[in-house]
Amino acid sequence: MKRIIYSLALIVASLSASAASITNVYGRDYKLLNGRWDAIVDLYDQGDRMKVYENRKPATATDFYEYSFDGGLRLEVPGDWNSQSPELKYYEGTVWYGRHFNAEPRPGEREILYFGSVSYRCNIYLNGRLIGSHEGGFTPFEIDVTDDLKIGDNFLVVEVNNRRTKDAIPALAFDWWNYGGITRDVMLVTVPDNYVRDYTVQLDRSKADVINIDVTMSQPVAGVNVSVDIAGLGKRFDGVTDAEGKVSGSIKSKNLKRWAPDAPVLYDVTVTGGSDAVKERIGFRNIGVDGTKILINGEPQFMRCVSFHEEIPQRMGRAFSKADATMLLNEARDLGVNMIRLAHYPQNEYTVRMAEEMGIVLWQEIPVWQGIDFTDDATRAKAQSMLTEMIQRDKNRCAVGFWGVANETKPSPERDDFLKSLLATGRAIDTTRLYVAAFDLVEFDRDRQLFTMNDPFTDNLDVVAVNKYMGWYHPWPLSPDKAVWDVNPDKPLIISEFGGEALFGQSGSSDVTSSWSEDYQARLYRDNLAMFENIPNLAGVSPWILFDFRSPFRFHPTNQEGWNRKGLVSDRGQRKKAWYIMRDYYNKKRNR
Ligand code: GCU
Repeated sequence: MKRIIYSLALIVASLSASAASITNVYGRDYKLLNGRWDAIVDLYDQGDRMKVYENRKPATATDFYEYSFDGGLRLEVPGDWNSQSPELKYYEGTVWYGRHFNAEPRPGEREILYFGSVSYRCNIYLNGRLIGSHEGGFTPFEIDVTDDLKIGDNFLVVEVNNRRTKDAIPALAFDWWNYGGITRDVMLVTVPDNYVRDYTVQLDRSKADVINIDVTMSQPVAGVNVSVDIAGLGKRFDGVTDAEGKVSGSIKSKNLKRWAPDAPVLYDVTVTGGSDAVKERIGFRNIGVDGTKILINGEPQFMRCVSFHEEIPQRMGRAFSKADATMLLNEARDLGVNMIRLAHYPQNEYTVRMAEEMGIVLWQEIPVWQGIDFTDDATRAKAQSMLTEMIQRDKNRCAVGFWGVANETKPSPERDDFLKSLLATGRAIDTTRLYVAAFDLVEFDRDRQLFTMNDPFTDNLDVVAVNKYMGWYHPWPLSPDKAVWDVNPDKPLIISEFGGEALFGQSGSSDVTSSWSEDYQARLYRDNLAMFENIPNLAGVSPWILFDFRSPFRFHPTNQEGWNRKGLVSDRGQRKKAWYIMRDYYNKKRNR
């Protein structure tokens, strides 16, 4: 997409597009616009010049258009394009999506077009007019289209571009597949003129019996009656909006059953405002730190974690559905986890809500992954938007315990400023969760015979996380059971990544890294688990990663073939020997 057009589109469209702030879209009256959309692959970005979004048809004998949305490529929405056509496996560029849909806008109602995510950037056109745009491949956005809709047939065009750029987040290189497309649900949401736009219903950060409530109506009108009813508690908050359409308050209840991994209690909550009413199931829990311990509801918890990408390896495509969430989460549950690090970006809402029902704590993060341009103000603003959009979508999800702001960033004054601005942005919205970042800066100090890390930025975090690949990228400098760590000894430390690659079914020497064997991977896991016993402030571990996943820079022609093979489970769902080692380790941890 040409930069000049895109930035112009941003200026024009930013007036009407907005980061999604309609809370709990799945609890609304909506029509899914999923299905097979028409598509035009535009490698040279000529669609703008040709105005394909006008979807013109020849009207006279001399008219002609060198495009048509009819009779060409069709792509499933939601879904990445890479897994839908062999020619698009590596495609990075623009694809124009188009579809008709019927609308019956009624007086007294608003119609909101909502995208769960589009990867990576997009412009939205309705009936030939640019109405919005968004950048960021993993967070939702919405556009109020009430005044743009026609009664009856409407034509929606989404110009999607997934080209990697230096100023993007993530930037030019990252260790996962650069999937492009309309990758999550698209909906047309119908709401009353003045609707319950945003609400937070959340247990106080430190109190076990106070539920804080903030409700914002869509219109800044005073005097609107608002109520929050928590069935099962027999409690209800009633209030009246102020001149900004807002109302806050709290509910106190001594018999609240708090959500916890071994008892994921959720309550039916109804938020009513004027003629609007929204329902969803919400859990209430405290999470915090005490010295080097992570506390859930005041009890120390060891985080038995695992990561997974938002990818279904068997389909070689992005995960987006309830069925996909079920497959990924069941495999994690069988490992014995009580936490999942959703790497390295916010994942779809089905996964988040299902994890909550299953009692799995979540670490969600934005893809500030390694080589980000920390000197670029526009890049910083994008990261802040992504963080805001992530928190806005999931702030009522008690399963989310951690917000992650970075992965493996190199220390510099610019990086520190950039990340501090993210922490300030997050904490301005949500102080009830723990802020974390993953670092790969732990070194072995030969003089002190200790593993140490020197990154003062960690002082700004609630929990410090370390990615360390002992036995894979780093040979052991001493016997694993003699390895002692001295890393942020006064804070909880999570080993957020460790592991090594193995091709399922490949046997070989457990002493030879390049054997890419299950035997070597199993030995590597036993060695790392032995080392973890000597980390005094260890509060959790997270093997990298649950499933083998696709990555364009995993070149080895027989062991990798474009796959990162660090999975405990192969791309075909086969559990490797290391899976059983982790399962036994977590069983012991759970029963301690
Ligand atoms: C890094 C990074 C991961 C990557 C992993 C690997 O730590 O955080 O995204 O996949 O190492 O090299 O396999």
